[in-house]
Amino acid sequence: MKIIVGNWKMNGTPELLDEMIGALGELHTENRVFLCVPYTMLRSGNVAVMIGAQNVSKYDSGAHTGEISAEMVAAAGASVTLVGHSECRKEQQDTNADVAKRAGLAIKNNLLPIICVGETAEERDAGLTYKIIEQGVRESVPANASNGGFIIAYEPRWAIGAGITPTKEQIAEAHKIIRDVLNEMGFEETPILYGASVTAANSADIMGIENVDGVLVGGASLKKDDFIPIIQSVK
Ligand code: PGA
Repeated sequence: MKIIVGNWKMNGTPELLDEMIGALGELHTENRVFLCVPYTMLRSGNVAVMIGAQNVSKYDSGAHTGEISAEMVAAAGASVTLVGHSECRKEQQDTNADVAKRAGLAIKNNLLPIICVGETAEERDAGLTYKIIEQGVRESVPANASNGGFIIAYEPRWAIGAGITPTKEQIAEAHKIIRDVLNEMGFEETPILYGASVTAANSADIMGIENVDGVLVGGASLKKDDFIPIIQSVK
């Protein structure tokens, strides 16, 4: 059983979501499938697909115009949310501490947070990959997290949306670092996903790597003819 998460980013329509949910409902798979959609399309999922948000506010409620709280996301029917996605870290200057606040509120409101960590090209070139990943996990996991009550996604920021896939060795190395840190923190049950430029052509190979419990898929999750073969590429 693997976990396959689609991230629609700022794309899609309610009609496209209806179509995708219908197609996923006809699949017979042991894998768990989540779809993280824009806030305006949030709704309840079903056994075939859990619906999630792409972020939640770091504030509980109040005077924060334009923000959407974890409580609101849960009330809209969602059961999961991304936090700390690299595009949020870049465009909203999200720090690990901000990500921990978001994840903490997600857990408080019964949402399963998928906490994203990963290094930029500059950080990798400077030999900081290990440090960034380790700090990302230690500092972004909130104090109210429980063993298995959240997911980590390793997203090498230099590969996202770029059509570049790291080597198997690079993925295996990063996931091993994350697994070791999670074990040290007492979170042995926490799944670790890989995300960046996943397609049906590489998904089975990637999910065959040690410590890879699933994938987070951006571009290739938007069309059912791209997304479904990824789900079906593994048992
Ligand atoms: P990509 O995006 O699959 O389009 O590279 C991955 C992500 O942003 O989660």
